[in-house]
Amino acid sequence: MSNQHPPTENHPRYSTHPVSYMRRGTRLQGRRQTVWDTHADSYVIDVPREFTDTSVRSDYVFDPVEHFGREAELVVEIGSGLGEAVVHLAAQAPEKNFLAVEVYKPGLASTLGKIAGKKLSNVRVVEADAVHALERMLPAASVTELYLFFPDPWHKKRHHKRRLVRDSFVPIAARVLKPGGVWRLATDWSDYAEQMRDVLDRAPQFENPYAERASESSREEGLGGGWAPRYEGRVHTSFENKAHRAGRRVFDLEYVRR
Ligand SMILES: C[S@@+](CC[C@H](N)C(=O)[O-])C[C@H]1O[C@@H](n2cnc3c(N)ncnc32)[C@H](O)[C@@H]1O
Repeated sequence: MSNQHPPTENHPRYSTHPVSYMRRGTRLQGRRQTVWDTHADSYVIDVPREFTDTSVRSDYVFDPVEHFGREAELVVEIGSGLGEAVVHLAAQAPEKNFLAVEVYKPGLASTLGKIAGKKLSNVRVVEADAVHALERMLPAASVTELYLFFPDPWHKKRHHKRRLVRDSFVPIAARVLKPGGVWRLATDWSDYAEQMRDVLDRAPQFENPYAERASESSREEGLGGGWAPRYEGRVHTSFENKAHRAGRRVFDLEYVRR
């Protein structure tokens, strides 16, 4: 599969910027297919597409009240993987609505299994590129919390342009967050952590409540300040556990929408 959206007249930007993911197969097998068939109608937002199967048609607007059947704070997780974090958080906060945005269909199937297993009614999932989901389907100022935990690090220098957190993504995220809303991020790649912090520290739309904070270890490693304490709502996912086993430190960041 191409790593760039095909050009369209209205969205030339998608023809020039590589996407932040490699689609590793969209076919479901065995149990995951059964889980999908059983629960997709209840939890998957079936969005109209524009060109690829991770795109969102430009005129589609998601109505949270229609899909959740109630008005409540909306929390969005980008790149929800196997759904460990979003399902844990949704179980802890039944008064909030949660939307998981992921391009990896087997991960979404696994998320559906977890949602159904816990009988949660406050989670929906969408198979979509987060850039499209945020830019198109989510109404402006509709989100109270945005999560991005362990985004693909694209650690080779020549792949850095694929990283999701870059200057051009900031207004896309800022648009959907309510004033006072929070964007939480975590990564185990120190140079991506620094990139995230530098991009967001210079963004006029966001404020870093921990701008002055420098942990002992950051000082020792010459990584400066601005890191948030570990977000206690975040479960240890398999990605975080892998990072710890490899001896990599995990960085948390938190930004408040002005
Ligand atoms: C390294 S995994 C981390 C998964 C999960 N957040 C965790 O901590 O376990 C990154 C995930 O982000 C997804 N992803 C990458 N770019 C994305 C995008 N533009 N839109 C939606 N999902 C994306 C990938 O498919 C992958 O599942």
